[in-house]
Amino acid sequence: MTDPSTPDLSTPDVTTQGTDDGSRPHPHLRVQQDGPVLTVTLDNTARRNAQLPSLWLALAEVAQGLDASVRVVVLRAEGPSFSAGLDLSVVAGDPAKAPQGEPDLFEIAGRGVEEAADVIAGFQRGFTAWAEAEAVVVAAVQGHAIGAGFQLALAADLRVVADDVQLAMRETSLGLVPDLGGTQPLVSLVGPSRALELCATGRFVGAQEAVAAGLANVAVPRDELEATTADLVAALLAAPEAALRALKPLLRSAVSADRETQLRAERETQAVLLRGLGEARATGRR
Ligand code: CAA
Repeated sequence: MTDPSTPDLSTPDVTTQGTDDGSRPHPHLRVQQDGPVLTVTLDNTARRNAQLPSLWLALAEVAQGLDASVRVVVLRAEGPSFSAGLDLSVVAGDPAKAPQGEPDLFEIAGRGVEEAADVIAGFQRGFTAWAEAEAVVVAAVQGHAIGAGFQLALAADLRVVADDVQLAMRETSLGLVPDLGGTQPLVSLVGPSRALELCATGRFVGAQEAVAAGLANVAVPRDELEATTADLVAALLAAPEAALRALKPLLRSAVSADRETQLRAERETQAVLLRGLGEARATGRR
């Protein structure tokens, strides 16, 4: 039974379904599948794609419900900024101005660490589920990607950034910490020392530094962001499908697995792929 004191965190109504414009699992989110490519677009341009907790739940649903035919996901955003991070109205402390249906994060925290952590775990899925998806996830990032916006970019496997990109982890500046799955990819990309500096200062990282530090795969002029992303998607689709699907979990596990576990994962993955290739050759000969 629903606890009436619990905010309704269900995903807002789908406002369009199956149109040419794709589906809309959240008022600020558009999802469109074109063959093996799923494009997920943040489109609350007026608020610089600031993110509400309900958006995180909608992102989790999309990531966890990917069709098996999807091989590449593009995470992108309309407007000048990829995302200004958490919609600050939910922490403004003024219930009158709080968006309807969104949780009061302070009230949730007041219920105790365990209960609050459970709620946040649901929010985290909107970020972490992309790493677990079989499809390769590419973020195309322009303008500001702040806080939750930066963490969403970090949730992708690859990042193409525009030359106007401004990445910043601002949670610490608000008296908080990054809690949407961003700490692990950040540290694995730039190391603990640079990660601490970026989070503690909240400073902006531009395109050149992002590429040099490994936060972005490539930086391109703003008007080439879409075309470069499309080229990268085409290159990913050109890779043999089974090998690419096996590659992502193998490389991700290399970050944290011990050497023996990783070696086993390599050889077992290879054995499966070799068997598949062998069967294909045999079938081809027949
Ligand atoms: N929440 C709600 N509204 C936001 C917003 C946010 N995070 N960021 C921007 N907006 C709104 C502005 O209020 C403004 O609305 P109005 O037109 O109604 O005044 C509109 O979006 C456009 O914003 P700006 O005029 O400021 O646009 P800009 O291009 O000059 O600047 C910006 C863009 C640098 C992103 C600036 O808006 C900004 O600094 N925003 C706040 C960023 C921030 O601190 N986010 C929180 C990060 S921490 C986090 O995300 C916490 C977490 O995960 C737990």
